Amino acid sequence: MDHVAHAREMLGCATPGSWFDAAQNDLRTLLIDHANCEKKAAGTALSLLYRYVDKPKLLRRMSRLAREELRHYEQVLAMMDSLGLEYGPLTPSRYAGGMRASIRTSEPGRLIDTLIVGAVVEARSCERFAGLASRVGGRLGSFYGRLLESESRHAFHYLDLAREYACAVDDEVAGSFDARLRVFVGLDRELVTLPDTQLRFHSGPPTENATA
Ligand SMILES: [Fe+2]
Ligand SMILES: [Fe+2]
Repeated sequence: MDHVAHAREMLGCATPGSWFDAAQNDLRTLLIDHANCEKKAAGTALSLLYRYVDKPKLLRRMSRLAREELRHYEQVLAMMDSLGLEYGPLTPSRYAGGMRASIRTSEPGRLIDTLIVGAVVEARSCERFAGLASRVGGRLGSFYGRLLESESRHAFHYLDLAREYACAVDDEVAGSFDARLRVFVGLDRELVTLPDTQLRFHSGPPTENATA
């Protein structure tokens, strides 16, 4: 199975066509938010490095991931430059907050949920990059075509770590893993399909009177 098919299999739905239409009509907002997502992905990986110093496999993967996401961040900024689009401030989307709100606050649930959210977010990014790559074409299209491979790999690294740590706790935690995955796949489905007040990389389709 290829990268995109893997990511789609993890997710509960496809991105609505109306989101792609809106994204193509406002590439500057899309790219600013995309740059911010790469920065945030690096930040999440770094925060895991601080919080779980007793987990060597996680530390190695998150350190590499943080570097890779920051390289993506630089690449998005360079792509904006080459397209003559100016980077600037943008409010965050409802997506990250909406996903984070359901992460359990005590361990080991907190770690397992954080890693599951990482997996779902990366899989959604991969699915959107694939759709955008086939629609926008040109330099931006090939850039997205390259990025979808790394995001698919990140999704499966996160999922693999989440499952491994859940199985290492006890049978009960291991047994509830699929249910937790379903919670976040369901949340992602709502957040990316329900009408949104803004266009963002992980938003729902923006409404007529959406703001920047
Ligand atoms: Fe990335
Ligand atoms: Fe990523």
